[in-house]
Amino acid sequence: MRVCVIGTGYVGLVTGACLAHTGHHVICVDNNEEKVKLMKSGRSPIYEPGLSEIMQKSASEDRLEFTGDLKYGVTNSDILFIAVGTPALPSGDSDTRYVEAVARGIGTHLNKGYKVIVNKSTVPIGSGDWVRMIVLDGLAEREHSDTSGDETAKRLGIEFDVVSNPEFLREGSAVYDTFNPDRIVLGSNGKRALQMMQELYQPIVERKFAEDASMPPVSVVLTDLSSAEMIKYAANAFLATKISFINEIANVCDRVGADVVQVAKGIGLDTRIGTKFLQAGIGWGGSCFPKDVSAMIHTADDYGYDAQLLKAAVDVNKRQRQIAIEKLQHELKILKGKTIGLLGLTFKPDTDDMRDAPALNLIEQLNRLGAKVKAYDPIVSQTGIGQGFTGVVVETDPHRLADGCDALVLVTDWQQFETLDYEKMAKQMINPVIIDGRNFLDREKLEKIGFRYVGIGRS
Ligand code: UDX
Ligand code: UDX
Repeated sequence: MRVCVIGTGYVGLVTGACLAHTGHHVICVDNNEEKVKLMKSGRSPIYEPGLSEIMQKSASEDRLEFTGDLKYGVTNSDILFIAVGTPALPSGDSDTRYVEAVARGIGTHLNKGYKVIVNKSTVPIGSGDWVRMIVLDGLAEREHSDTSGDETAKRLGIEFDVVSNPEFLREGSAVYDTFNPDRIVLGSNGKRALQMMQELYQPIVERKFAEDASMPPVSVVLTDLSSAEMIKYAANAFLATKISFINEIANVCDRVGADVVQVAKGIGLDTRIGTKFLQAGIGWGGSCFPKDVSAMIHTADDYGYDAQLLKAAVDVNKRQRQIAIEKLQHELKILKGKTIGLLGLTFKPDTDDMRDAPALNLIEQLNRLGAKVKAYDPIVSQTGIGQGFTGVVVETDPHRLADGCDALVLVTDWQQFETLDYEKMAKQMINPVIIDGRNFLDREKLEKIGFRYVGIGRS
């Protein structure tokens, strides 16, 4: 099938490349010329395991194109994905101006025939109908016609339906998640659109590219637009709340002398609870949980409901970052003049994304308290995103990071942090103290080396 993906960010580029990999022809459109140039040369502007390989393969088989030309993308495709950013506004509402710009742009370029317009970006509930209206406005403006968009479309033989197809991709495993989804959600009022979308995803539904092709077909949830949009928000809000729950339990464990890692294991074996997303630590960040939970709270508020549970989950998360500082103060007393080394900067491992990363708050707090901050991150230290930071010295080697530190804080659970030479690092430090912000490291091994190990809820 002929697909156009508009917005080649963490979601759009993965979606486009993976759909091309399954055999469709995909035109990726982005208004950032630098990105388009980079992708045309076969390189990915984002770090996502496995992405550049499938980009290069699909491009070499002429199934994946990159362009800044929206008209070319729209007129040569039957299914148009909107995958531009929907960041949170300072008020907490979703910033949908990019979605609006793209929807209007699609309207001005729509040609004769039937198209499916897909909201891949996470948009506020009820946006499906709003996108339809914007597309029709764009069409009417193009024709300078004073008739309505609907009439203009009919006159020109243009037909389309809007589909909500939320993404459930985790950064760092987005390619894997695309080929191995737990479910595919399709929301629309148009039957033809739902049929085309099921045809588009058939190879993935039949697990043709899955890790385990013998598993039963992927479940496809066919529903209306608003329910599909709500599924996305509810999924992220639940996962974020589950993490805030275990973080709250960890904070109680710290006071009663229980070990939250054991507690998480003990409750997670109850299949109603499940073992995933019960890793206590310094809290959740990234480009999705913070903005999606906040958008849900604001949507509830817009409709006269006070989402207290979600607000509490956000409050617990905000406080959780402070806990690493409190533990440092407990160990070192005065932080002024001390040197603190951060292991990891990104909001989670296997990504280069720093959006709302807990490390940013720690750097700000530690500077405010007069501490000197150093950091090492497997990606940031290599790609030099570090240049953009203030108040932190980004080291290119984890062992140099330890040199002269009064304490280390593990901020991101990168796999490679398990196997660092902690014996050597302990000798380089003024105080071999480590705050394990993700309860990720081997406590016994570190204590044997002579570290004072401090976890979150592991007293
Ligand atoms: C975005 C949303 O933030 C997320 O809520 C949704 O679930 C998926 O899409 P992400 O892929 O991280 O996530 O967005 P971002 O990394 O900001 O990339 C957006 C891309 O769209 C950028 O490459 C930007 O250059 C491009 N863009 C933006 C356009 O091509 N046109 C525009 O008008 C605006
Ligand atoms: C999330 C959702 O998982 C995904 O389905 C949705 O499409 C986008 O948002 P992502 O934000 O990429 O994906 O990462 P995720 O793996 O969910 O982690 C989010 C944050 O929660 C990270 O900061 C991570 O460190 C934290 N986390 C995760 C915990 O603190 N504990 C856990 O047990 C799991």
